[in-house]
Amino acid sequence: MNLELAGKTVIVTGGAQGIGLATAQIYASRGAQVVVADLNGDAAKAALETLESHGVTHFAVDVDVSSSASVESMKERVMEAVGKVDVLANVAGIYPNSLMTETPDDVWRRTLAVNLDGTFFMCRAWAPVLSEQEGAAIVNVISGAARIPYPGLSAYSASKGGVISFSRVIAAELAPSIRVNCIGPGGTLADGKVDSDTDPQMMALIPMARLGRPEEIAEAIVFLGSDRARYVTGQILHVNGGRSMH
Ligand SMILES: NC(=O)c1ccc[n+]([C@@H]2O[C@H](COP(=O)([O-])OP(=O)(O)OC[C@H]3O[C@@H](n4cnc5c(N)ncnc54)[C@H](O)[C@@H]3O)[C@@H](O)[C@H]2O)c1
Repeated sequence: MNLELAGKTVIVTGGAQGIGLATAQIYASRGAQVVVADLNGDAAKAALETLESHGVTHFAVDVDVSSSASVESMKERVMEAVGKVDVLANVAGIYPNSLMTETPDDVWRRTLAVNLDGTFFMCRAWAPVLSEQEGAAIVNVISGAARIPYPGLSAYSASKGGVISFSRVIAAELAPSIRVNCIGPGGTLADGKVDSDTDPQMMALIPMARLGRPEEIAEAIVFLGSDRARYVTGQILHVNGGRSMH
């Protein structure tokens, strides 16, 4: 049993399902205390039942990361419940698909609000708390779509490109007390996203010839948030089977 993260407290946004849930599960299995933070409070509570305990009590909290008021209220509740935070994993995200010329204002705004504003609101709220802990880290989830032009993903790509630029700047601002890095998943078999990894056209573009699994992305998130990555900041780690090479 590997409990190397015992004593750490970690917030995972979007932790109720998909990559966020896999991240919460790995953290818990290694002894960390996990705060599952999600728009869907019921699903966040249900997620707790899938987390190993190892003597720590995990915590579920509902939050809409696109609202600074919601983030502030969540911060109060989390601080009351757990008292300190070592790692913030910003995994929550939405990925609507529509061609640019057909994208309504509200879809554009909501995508930027959740993916980009949400990352900003969470980092701004939690940086002062994180900075009180040795080895604190933020991991922001971006996407290969920030660089690869997939038709239909203009709002999404703009939001994730924004998160990359934002993360680089705050990595410089928050060093040396908080490391800030990004994970760039490729197509991943997660709830509500891609339900088949047999599309031959898509597979031909991936040297590893398959989609990712949520736990494979989660492992990289956990690594960048850990002391094993203690000299890594301001970087993007792409976890995409070689779909793009940087
Ligand atoms: N799945 C993929 O193929 C893929 C590829 C590249 C990047 N990503 C990124 O990885 C992250 C997770 O993707 P996933 O496929 O696991 O997503 P998912 O849709 O399975 O889960 C996202 C979670 O975020 C929560 N969420 C949505 N809006 C929120 C808000 N405003 N406030 C708080 N929580 C909110 C949802 O309730 C859900 O539990 C996202 O940032 C996504 O952009 C995913």
